Amino acid sequence: MATRSRIIGCGGYLPERVVTNAELARRVDTSDEWIRQRTGIQERRIAAADENTSDLGTAAARTALERAGVDVDQLDLIIVATATPDETFPATATTIQARLGMTRGAAFDVQAVCTGFVYALAVADNFLRLGQARTALVIGAETFSRILDWEDRTTCVLFGDGAGAVVLQAQETDGHTPSGVLSTHLYSDGRHHDALYVDGGPSSTQSTGQLRMEGREVFRHAVVRMAEAIDAALSANQLGASDVDWLVPHQANMRIIEATGKRLNLSPERVVTTVDRHANTSAASIPLALFEAVEDGRIQEGDLVLLEGMGGGFTWGSALVRW
Ligand code: ACO
Repeated sequence: MATRSRIIGCGGYLPERVVTNAELARRVDTSDEWIRQRTGIQERRIAAADENTSDLGTAAARTALERAGVDVDQLDLIIVATATPDETFPATATTIQARLGMTRGAAFDVQAVCTGFVYALAVADNFLRLGQARTALVIGAETFSRILDWEDRTTCVLFGDGAGAVVLQAQETDGHTPSGVLSTHLYSDGRHHDALYVDGGPSSTQSTGQLRMEGREVFRHAVVRMAEAIDAALSANQLGASDVDWLVPHQANMRIIEATGKRLNLSPERVVTTVDRHANTSAASIPLALFEAVEDGRIQEGDLVLLEGMGGGFTWGSALVRW
């Protein structure tokens, strides 16, 4: 008998306010056509002034718990993946813990920017496999609108706010019930700091800072790194690209997503995309896409689901899940 973690519920939350490309074109020198052609993005959601990352994360968590049929008292662990925490400390996870009324277990944040959800899922999966927790809530929540330079057209058009969440539960498996998280693969290479970073922080500038990016450099690495993470996931499980039912990639850019789908030889309808409506919500993008595809019935029991992402650091990784 072995222990495996299963995703038993998904949730998501998007702020109400929709910001279209046309609205951005009134602020900076850009156009709907440029943004659509280069990124596939049509609109994004932006959090209200009084809405913080923990508000978005709490809303997504409540839906995930409800879908899982899990009571807060059953939770042993909350991990929040975010690069935009409410405060420098405490962890946004503890703020969400209090909001949910959870008074036991552990809660902490994980910081791997756009790969954050894959990292947090891997950490929770290891806790569950080792028996250190039985039921975990993994949340990706971001308010990137707060760290954007709204004068910089090369970055401000690419991101949005949102949150997604999953409930993971440990289940004994005798090998004949193959559902659950099959594997996770995490990578980072800190030499690429300058390609994607925020130019501030508590220790360096005592300010929050703003996002800076060399878009072309990120694009070049993203395609290669994501392919690496996918190959690792498939070969570790002795599976091939043709076994994958759904690709749920980090939603940064439609062109990166299409390139990855093509490499797997997956038809576009097998690739879950939200980037057109959400833009890049960093750590929230994968769980938000997952929520959408589970909620509308695309992902079904027994399906093989491949999650992958890449972000600042650089960090990148993948998770293979049998639904
Ligand atoms: N509107 C109009 N023109 C623009 C805009 C804009 N919003 N932004 C840049 N341009 C201009 C540039 O100034 C440049 O003009 P120039 O030729 O006169 O100098 C021209 O468009 C081309 O710029 P490039 O940067 O070469 O455009 P590119 O085709 O590489 O597209 C993009 C830029 C969309 C950022 C692309 O590189 C990309 O998607 N990179 C990946 C970045 C990403 O997804 N980051 C997210 C975080 S990491 C992650 O999640 C994986």
